Amino acid sequence: MTKIALGVTSSIGIYKACEVLRGFQKNGARVQVVMTRNAARLVSPLLFGSLSGLSAIVDLFEEPVSRDVGHVSLAKEVSLLCVAPATANVIGKFAGGVADDFLSTLFLAARSPVLVAPAMNEAMYLHPQTQANLARLRAMGVEFVEPEKGYLACKDEGWGRLAEPQAIVREGMRLIGRTKSLKGKKVLVTAGPTREPMDPVRFLSNPSSGKMGYELAREALARGAEVVLVSGPTSLIPPPGARTELVTTAAEMQEACLRAYPGTDIVVMAAAVSDFRFKDVRPRKTGKAEVPSKLEIERTPDILALLGKKKKKGQLLVGFAAETHDIAGNARKKMAAKNADLMVANEVGQGRGFGTDDNELRIISASGPVHPTGKISKREASRVVFDHIEAALEKKRR
Ligand code: CTP
Repeated sequence: MTKIALGVTSSIGIYKACEVLRGFQKNGARVQVVMTRNAARLVSPLLFGSLSGLSAIVDLFEEPVSRDVGHVSLAKEVSLLCVAPATANVIGKFAGGVADDFLSTLFLAARSPVLVAPAMNEAMYLHPQTQANLARLRAMGVEFVEPEKGYLACKDEGWGRLAEPQAIVREGMRLIGRTKSLKGKKVLVTAGPTREPMDPVRFLSNPSSGKMGYELAREALARGAEVVLVSGPTSLIPPPGARTELVTTAAEMQEACLRAYPGTDIVVMAAAVSDFRFKDVRPRKTGKAEVPSKLEIERTPDILALLGKKKKKGQLLVGFAAETHDIAGNARKKMAAKNADLMVANEVGQGRGFGTDDNELRIISASGPVHPTGKISKREASRVVFDHIEAALEKKRR
């Protein structure tokens, strides 16, 4: 039976947590409620205990001594940690790694998906500190059900009202369902730009931020895959759970990919590999007076094409195509040239694609039609891409 840990904190929206609990139960899950001490001052743990059939946990040290360390064993048992409602305080604690009660300790021990439904006063929600905490958690792979606009406890109208319980339950069940679909599969994702040095202080590169690749790695992990993330230089936090290899040049990226390739089921080449490098890499900084007006460049290895040549039956290769024009046409040509099974094409330039949070993609397979996604977040785009990958895998098996 699926077990869910429901974290309950001291927001006025706490009364809706009972509905969230019931919703998970209606979906066949067993729910263990974990309350913060302040939440237990607002509502008695007895209420949640009676509804769930398992006594609500409040204190880190109240567990019977004979049991395994409570938060660690519960973390292993659950398929989801859902915190609804989540106060600014608990969001700050999660983002900062503070672990001073059962719920915050459970968060650090959790390997399951984590779903957070914030609820607080609008000013607190929109405060740059809260927004920074939310962004940090999002980067770690925490999922959110955003609060709604409406009547708040402080008699203000505004953003910050806990989302509807059904929306929280729906998202929670979706996350649980997603965890199994790629179980047993090995996924290699590349992300970010590469840098090709001219000397120790200068290089050739591109504006890729790595966001799309990191989201893809996170999505593969969430679906239960074993993930190797080969990343060029970015400022992003690698998703916990992935084996991340940090590289700088195209040659290093190729080496890391070739090492990981045997036994890999799915490769997603989201990296913006630099196409050129300097022929002559100088070991010491070259003064500008010494730099010739023309520098010779050469092509870097085409990693995707190389993997395409070595592709074994059952392996699925996905390429990205950054285009400024004839997007689908160029992507199809690249798919054929590199022996890829799917291409994800996006329009770049004029503020699109590189470094942004949104993307507008076209997903192209050898035989099927072009699937345009419309403008969506990179998080949402990673879901769409993996839905297509799973469909293509299924087709390959048949
Ligand atoms: N790619 C690669 N190695 C390279 C260049 C590109 O593996 N040296 C991969 C990218 O990761 C991407 C796909 O090939 O998945 C297409 O990349 P893109 O830059 O759009 O195309 P190129 O093949 O480089 O062609 P061009 O720059 O001429 O458009």
